[in-house]
Amino acid sequence: MQIFIDSADVKELKALAETGLVDGVTTNPSLIAKSGGDFFETLRAICDAVSGPVSAEVVAQDAETMIAEGKKLRGVAPNIVVKLPLTPEGLLACKALTDEGHPTNVTLCFSAVQALLAAKAGATFISPFLGRLDDGGQDGMQLIREIRAIYDNYGYETNILAASIRTGAHVRDAALAGADCATIPPAVFRALYKHNLTDAGLAAFLKDWKATGQSIL
Ligand code: G3P
Repeated sequence: MQIFIDSADVKELKALAETGLVDGVTTNPSLIAKSGGDFFETLRAICDAVSGPVSAEVVAQDAETMIAEGKKLRGVAPNIVVKLPLTPEGLLACKALTDEGHPTNVTLCFSAVQALLAAKAGATFISPFLGRLDDGGQDGMQLIREIRAIYDNYGYETNILAASIRTGAHVRDAALAGADCATIPPAVFRALYKHNLTDAGLAAFLKDWKATGQSIL
């Protein structure tokens, strides 16, 4: 499974890129606002830090302006993916941009039939929002399973990008359900390394090793 980081915090993204485990980045208007920086400067800095796909979202409501915004965003760096909302206009823009060879990420997906439409519009990525469904008392992971089954039934190549991830359990279950990618907030990514038995086991090994008085180097 590909791991993307869901953030527009350039300093954080640079640090996480150094782990060698990060395959890409997703941003949205809220994350850009939180970063406090200029949109285009922030995108350029992220694209310099990460070689994989970097999703940047349009803010227009009509297809024609979305396409123009998408093309401008694509001019920032070759690894920009145009992020579009799952609306009729967003899918028109998705189809037009896809037909011209631009990679796309259709976002704000909350149902399997929405994901079916995005695949038919040629989306490179579909972003089902797990956490927000769970917040509302629905089962976000069931949505991933349904999209996986539908895409496999018809051979759609659209990548399932599990989004709105809140916990390590979300990452595990999205991987088990066959999501192609997960976009993970920095704090949740860092927590993926952690297990109390790893810490306790390492402490015991190091204590016993020290008692031998030996060294490897
Ligand atoms: O970037 C899209 C998505 O991951 C947002 O997550 O936590 O705002 O629901 P969240």
